[in-house]
Amino acid sequence: MSCQSQPGGHVIGFGATKRSDKWWVAPLLTVLYIGVALGYGTWAAFQGDHYQAGPYLSPLYSPTLFLDPNAVGTAGGIFGHVWFGEFPKWWLEASWATFFPPSPALLILPLPGVLRFTCYYYRKAYYRSFGFTPPGCSVQGLRRGKYRGETGLFIFQNIHRYALYIALVYNGILFFDAAMSLWHPDLGLGIGVGSVVLFVNASLLAAYSFGCHSFRHLFGGRLDCFTCDAPSKIQHGTWRFSTWFNERHMQIAWTSLGFVMFTDLYIRSVSHGWIPDLNTWGVSLSAAGLGG
Ligand code: FES
Repeated sequence: MSCQSQPGGHVIGFGATKRSDKWWVAPLLTVLYIGVALGYGTWAAFQGDHYQAGPYLSPLYSPTLFLDPNAVGTAGGIFGHVWFGEFPKWWLEASWATFFPPSPALLILPLPGVLRFTCYYYRKAYYRSFGFTPPGCSVQGLRRGKYRGETGLFIFQNIHRYALYIALVYNGILFFDAAMSLWHPDLGLGIGVGSVVLFVNASLLAAYSFGCHSFRHLFGGRLDCFTCDAPSKIQHGTWRFSTWFNERHMQIAWTSLGFVMFTDLYIRSVSHGWIPDLNTWGVSLSAAGLGG
């Protein structure tokens, strides 16, 4: 292909490049992966039921702020995880509730969603894959007006550090849920495959937070000297801890995103009775098996 060059050696035209490798594979996979994850997450959030199986609570529904008393496989009964009781009647009885159901996930997912959307790594991924600005290194992207970075339309990206602070609270709640999954109110202490899934999920999401650039700045930034006194040495240690995760932030971002969807799917499947959960209690944890 003959290409017209411009100063700097770049070629002109959308998608034009002198690269001979398959540069388009990464953005294509990104679109597919994010599309599947978003599609599943949206579907699961709008279900409003079967998000609990025995002591296992789906991370997409935690914390469960309100409960729909008519939904099956929810966070009520002896495994109650509900913070504020039932959804208000005006929502439960609204005509539009068919399309916008009283689902606890719809109340809490926007917050971790903001963390992902404003994540420094995801910005790179979706600016390339969805925005084509540009789609890859040395690949001509869409022509835009004057470049203003994230000082214009995307200035909201600066709320990222606050989204992280909230996410750290979520991380604690998810570990609490995982610990609670070891306790059956009638049968006592035990463990099942679902507990392991919940612990892995909480660990991956914590690893994602630990590698956040804002986390690294929070614990390692604002220092002129890492070794001047005891507090600065401790801070240096946390900075190095965060750096380990930060260097793997992309991999952890993808793994944790996929695993949180898998965790919901696992618990949903057990609650529906589609698959059994192997556990030391030796009982079925499906909603039907629990009588509700
Ligand atoms: Fe990715 Fe903060 S979560 S940079």
